[in-house]
Amino acid sequence: MTSRHYNFDTTTERKDPNAVAQHGFKSYIFTEAQVAEFSYPDEELIPLWIADMAFPAAPEIVEAIKQRLDNPIFGYTKILDDSFYRAFVNWTRSRYGWEFAQEELLTTSGVIPALYSLIEYICEADDKVITFTPAYSYFKRSADYHNIDIVYSTLLNEQNEYRMDFNDFRKKASDPKVKVCIFCHPHNPTGRLWTEEELLDFGNICIENNITVISDEIHCDITRAGVVHTPLAKLFPDADNIITCMAPSKTFNLAGFLFANVIIPDEKLRRLWKRKHYLFENPLSLAAAQAAYEEGGSWLSELSTYLDNNFEFVKKTLAKQLPKAVFKVPEATYFAWLDMRAYFPEKENLTYYFAKHTGVIIEGGNMFVADAEGFMRINLACPQSVLKQALERICNHCQTM
Ligand SMILES: Cc1ncc(COP(=O)(O)O)c(C=O)c1O
Repeated sequence: MTSRHYNFDTTTERKDPNAVAQHGFKSYIFTEAQVAEFSYPDEELIPLWIADMAFPAAPEIVEAIKQRLDNPIFGYTKILDDSFYRAFVNWTRSRYGWEFAQEELLTTSGVIPALYSLIEYICEADDKVITFTPAYSYFKRSADYHNIDIVYSTLLNEQNEYRMDFNDFRKKASDPKVKVCIFCHPHNPTGRLWTEEELLDFGNICIENNITVISDEIHCDITRAGVVHTPLAKLFPDADNIITCMAPSKTFNLAGFLFANVIIPDEKLRRLWKRKHYLFENPLSLAAAQAAYEEGGSWLSELSTYLDNNFEFVKKTLAKQLPKAVFKVPEATYFAWLDMRAYFPEKENLTYYFAKHTGVIIEGGNMFVADAEGFMRINLACPQSVLKQALERICNHCQTM
C-alpha cells in the first residue's frame, strides 16, 4: 500500500472575499432576485460548480512561490532560458510519451484567452468554427465574440456513454467555411477521454478538410486509475494544424495564476501569435507552474486516488438514493455528469433549481451550450465530507419529487 503524504479530507476555508467559487456565482450565474429566493443562508451554500478545487495547492508549489518571493524583484519577466520548457516537456514525455520542439511552446494567461486569440488569428469574417455539444460555454463565447458562426455536432449518448457521431461530424466538417474545430479532450462536461481510435478518426476528418484543431487538453492530467491520456497531436506528428492547450491550472488548482501552455506547430501561426500577443509572464505564476511540473507528481497521484474514491462514493450514493439518475464514473476530469431527466421531464434551469432548493451550487445543462437539458455537472474536487452533505441535500430533495 502506498503511504499518504497529503491530506484532502480537511475543509479549508476560502478566506479570499474574491474567490469566485465561493462568492462569484451570484453575479456570474444568478440574478439578485434569484439569489434572494435561495432557501439556505450564504454560509451554508455548498459551491460545487466552477472548475477549481476546494484543496490547497501542493506544498511543493507553495514552497517554490515562497522561494521566488525571497528574491523580491518582480520586474518584467519572460521565459528566456529553457528550464520551464524542460520541466513541461519532461512532464508530457513521462506521462503521455509525447514531446514537442521548444519553439512550438508558447504560454499565455489561460486557455480561454488562447481560444479568443486563436480564433481571431485563424478565421476570416465568414468562416465557421465547429465543436461537439454539450460543450464548455467559452467554446461558443470565443466564436461569438468574433462574430464567427459556430456549428455543433451533437455527441451521441446512450445511458451517459458519449461518442462522437462521425457521420454527422464528417458532413459538417466538409463545409469549406468551417476552418477551426475546438475540441475538448478529455471532454468537459461528460468526462470522456477519447480513445486512440476515436482520435485518429476525428483527426483524419479534420486533416482531410483543412480544419485547424484547437485541442483543449486542460483536463488531461486528471484521469481515473489506469486510464492513460493520449494527446491528439501525438497521433499526428507530421500535422501542423493541431494546436494543443494544456495547463497546470486545473491539475494543480492554480487557475488564479493565469498561466497556460499552447503548443503551436505551425510556424506562420506562431509568428502571428508573437506579433499580436503580450509575451511576458507573471514571475510567481511561472515559479508555480515550473514547480508543479517538476515536483507536483506525487501530490497529483494522491489527489487522483482521492478523486477516484469520491467518484465511487457518488456512484454508490446515487445507486441507493437517486436510482433514476443516470451516472457513469467518467474516465477523466473531476466532474460527475448526471442525466436527471427522469426527475425533470419538463425544461428546468437546474443550476437555479438546486441552488434555490438545496443550497448546492452545481452547473445545470443550461450552462453547456446545447444538448444538455436535464443534465447537471457536480464538481467532486472537494473533501468527501462536503460532497456527502451536498449529495444528502440533493438526494433528499429529489426523493420528495
Ligand atoms: C475545457 C476547458 N477549457 C478551458 C477552461 C478554462 O481555462 P483557463 O482558466 O486556462 O482560461 C476550462 C475551465 O473550466 C475548461 O473546462
